[in-house]
Amino acid sequence: MTVLERAERALVKVAEVLSGGKLVEVSAVHISGVSYLTIRDAGLHFLEELAESGARFRVPATVNPAGVDPLHLSPELRETLPHDFVEKQCRILHALEKLGAELTLTCTPYLYRDFRNQVVAWGESSAVIYGNTVLGLRTDRWGGPLTVLAAVVGKVPETKLYRDEGRYPTHVVEVRVGQRYPWSLVGYCIGTVLRSGTPYLKLRGVPQGRELRNFLAALATPSNINRCVLPGLTPDLVEPRGRVPEVVITEEDLRRICEDLELREEPDCIALGCPHYSYEDLREILSILVRLGSRVRYPVLVFVSRVLYQRLLQEEKVLLEKLRKYGVDVVSGTCIVVSPLCESLGYRHVLTDSAKAAHYLRTLHRCRSSVTDLETCLRVATGAVRPW
Ligand code: F3S
Repeated sequence: MTVLERAERALVKVAEVLSGGKLVEVSAVHISGVSYLTIRDAGLHFLEELAESGARFRVPATVNPAGVDPLHLSPELRETLPHDFVEKQCRILHALEKLGAELTLTCTPYLYRDFRNQVVAWGESSAVIYGNTVLGLRTDRWGGPLTVLAAVVGKVPETKLYRDEGRYPTHVVEVRVGQRYPWSLVGYCIGTVLRSGTPYLKLRGVPQGRELRNFLAALATPSNINRCVLPGLTPDLVEPRGRVPEVVITEEDLRRICEDLELREEPDCIALGCPHYSYEDLREILSILVRLGSRVRYPVLVFVSRVLYQRLLQEEKVLLEKLRKYGVDVVSGTCIVVSPLCESLGYRHVLTDSAKAAHYLRTLHRCRSSVTDLETCLRVATGAVRPW
């Protein structure tokens, strides 16, 4: 039996459980679970064996952030990170490239390519919820190994989110929370209360750009929610079919759920870019720092895709240099969650603008974490405020 036949057979088995045996063709795949931190030797060997077997991806495949981007590793980090980790991460990326993946190393592939209205197989929860909510694309939230098989075969099980009937709102959720809470915390609170379904969200306004990505990523973190309906923004199947349960989220819910994410003690580091920041977000950081007129006093790490980092190196190195002058490090192709940076650099309390990052810093890295908005993160970083 060829590798392709074996991969197809595995997908059919999964489809028998999830979708009555039905498969659907996909036009693209986004592969998650590529950090050596999370997949370890078992994942590395699976990818290497697949690449050695002669299997190749049939559809375009983008790739999530890795544990480190070996192509753009600063000399300091090369010194600090365990040699074995960097070497094994390189092997994972090499195997993926051999299979035919494009090493975008980002959780925001939609910032660099137009995926609107496509049927795809994506594996990164923050991208899945963004695609289903904002771009009209159709995908379920697939695990890393299944995204690899989907890229080889060009199909996935046709689960509910690929069909109209699985995309209608299942709840109406009214959010009665004041302006002072960052969108990321509001999203985290909705996800914690609701846990599953497709909420039709009545919000105090609609977040835009980075705040929208951050809000949706946070909402998907404590839940199995892979699609929301945002009136005026979601392009497809927005009205509930008949009566659906109504849920109200209050400030009391938010205080209860997010209380311990408040900044109450001095951080060791400020981590931004979960999901990955865009070019516009980097410009916003610079303009806030110019306005504050001060270098940062704490390490500030901003995570971006390899695609954006390379573009900056080629076309706008001056932006990287200006940020560096203010003490800000832009880091390519990884993030504070999927890299071993916290442990290697000895961070024990990270301040971030992302409830998703804060959640995984606690659960994966056993690192304390606090959440506030970008402006406050930078005010803390420059010493303009000390809320502890
Ligand atoms: Fe992306 Fe890493 Fe956050 S993959 S969504 S930056 S946890």
